[in-house]
Amino acid sequence: MCGIVGYLGKKSATDILIEGLSKLEYRGYDSAGVAVIVDGSVVVEKYKGRLANLEEKIDSNKLVGNVGIGHTRWATHGVPSDLNSHPHTNENQTIAVVHNGIIENYMVLKEWLQSEGYKFKSETDTEVIPHLIDYYYEGDLLDAFMKAVKKMEGSYALGVVCKEEPNKIVAVRKDSPLIVGVGEGESFIASDIPAVLNHTRNVYLLEDNEFVLMEDGNVKIFDFNKNEVKKEIYHVTWNADAAEKGGYDHFMLKEIHEQPKAIKDTLTSRVVKGQKINLDSIKITKEQIAEIDKIYIVACGTAYHAGVVGKYAIEKLAKIPVEIEVASEFRYREPLINERTLMIVISQSGETADTLAALRLAKSENARVIAITNVVGSSVAREADDVLYTWAGPEIAVASTKAYVTQLIAMYIIALYFAENKESIRSTEIDKIKSELLNLSEKAAEVLNQKEKVKAFAKKIYMDKDMYFLGRGLDYAVAMEGSLKLKEISYIHSEAYAAGELKHGPIALIEDDTTVIALATQEYLFEKMLSNIKEVITRGAKVIAVAMEGHDVIEKSVDDAIYIPRVMPIVAPILSVIPLQLLSYYISIEKGCDVDKPRNLAKSVTVE
Ligand code: F6R
Repeated sequence: MCGIVGYLGKKSATDILIEGLSKLEYRGYDSAGVAVIVDGSVVVEKYKGRLANLEEKIDSNKLVGNVGIGHTRWATHGVPSDLNSHPHTNENQTIAVVHNGIIENYMVLKEWLQSEGYKFKSETDTEVIPHLIDYYYEGDLLDAFMKAVKKMEGSYALGVVCKEEPNKIVAVRKDSPLIVGVGEGESFIASDIPAVLNHTRNVYLLEDNEFVLMEDGNVKIFDFNKNEVKKEIYHVTWNADAAEKGGYDHFMLKEIHEQPKAIKDTLTSRVVKGQKINLDSIKITKEQIAEIDKIYIVACGTAYHAGVVGKYAIEKLAKIPVEIEVASEFRYREPLINERTLMIVISQSGETADTLAALRLAKSENARVIAITNVVGSSVAREADDVLYTWAGPEIAVASTKAYVTQLIAMYIIALYFAENKESIRSTEIDKIKSELLNLSEKAAEVLNQKEKVKAFAKKIYMDKDMYFLGRGLDYAVAMEGSLKLKEISYIHSEAYAAGELKHGPIALIEDDTTVIALATQEYLFEKMLSNIKEVITRGAKVIAVAMEGHDVIEKSVDDAIYIPRVMPIVAPILSVIPLQLLSYYISIEKGCDVDKPRNLAKSVTVE
């Protein structure tokens, strides 16, 4: 996720671009840059770090012009650096491009362009775009741009300026957001409405595959076949604060709703129907995988809960023993590590102090370390031997949601990769799981459609002092995550228990009206879970169940139930966690808590 802006009018493009980028920094802040047409040339300024760094270094006296594009980056391909920052240009800097998204076939395009003599400077996927436009350019920017876009696979919102046609900006979107702002004799492009709100409230909301041509204050929109499209202007009535959150009341709710896309992005190019898992960023060989005799998964908080699912997936699919541990404990005992140990660390931020210390401990004992992280170039990414990035985009709310589901996806991908290399399960089974993964994004969207039902549950139980989350197998792993979400944003005391463990003590806590959230998505454990539900109901508990479609028999036993679409039990956590995230969110709202910034917590814990 990155932010892009563009301006064409009569005012100072640099000032308007910087102001627009400041409204998009929530979309990424690894680097920032602008390209402005100055006296008929394309002038680029771009630096690693936050926008403030660009503002400090930029010489706005030099960047005098009325046409330009800008970018704030959330790194995916290539570490944060000046060179990898956008805008990217062709070799003689006549064309500059800003991009939000991922060009999936960039390697193929890059090799082809290199064979045509094009030279590349950065590690990014984006750099193929200015070269492609250059390749097709024959005096008409829009034509060349359309030809270039037709070569690309993946997701993109793009803005382009060109020295030869200095009064134009061309743009397009596919699977990445882009709007066009229409002012008096001026026009804008932006990833999101807040970036233009100080200048205009009239915007076009682009659909996928719509091209934009801005020229001398006029805006034209074309379809993929260059037919002009007449669109209605949308008049924005909300304020900038709501717009930054995409119209949602809080970042957490926005991020919960971004999960279908985050799931899809994290699977992109790694899990492809009919192909082997593609992990070109992980260099571990078949022979090295065969040598592993133990895996440690080490992480904190929500990332630890993703690891619990990971243990289950790796042991079931790859048949390698896995130990899972919280990093703050792991680092201070004397774990048995050697060169046949593999450590997997999971960290959204990539900067958690305990996780980083555990990684260093493993490295000092010659173990290989794979990092799963959401932040390109973060400390764990730099220090691990291999990295698998979760492509969730920046997570702003303190309570982790979309990072968690992408961490689960990363764990499944690694488990399948090991299974394929070790041939530890039948290839038909592997194919079945791959298809399940590829359908998850749509199914997650179906779960989100039930949010009104979850909201109604929240209204009934938000005054409770205690709640219990029960589950068996993978449902227990999800119960832990549900309980953590509830604690951190609603301040209600809650505990997660393995349902079979209840009788060994915790059942003494259940009394009249105690709320129990019972997860019952694991088909092979369903009957056992029903018995555990009956045990708590007999003691007076009111029970809300999360079950799989087709198991509505559960309604005979519980007070309320919510259903997730049918999936193989192994991938069910991705769907069953969503109602729990929503439940915590709505309870927190009912209680009037600060959802995005809960008390006593920080997004990244860089101290012990
Ligand atoms: C909970 C939450 C925390 C983090 C934990 C690890 O919603 O966000 O429990 O999961 O602090 O953080 P990372 O993943 O950045 O290492």
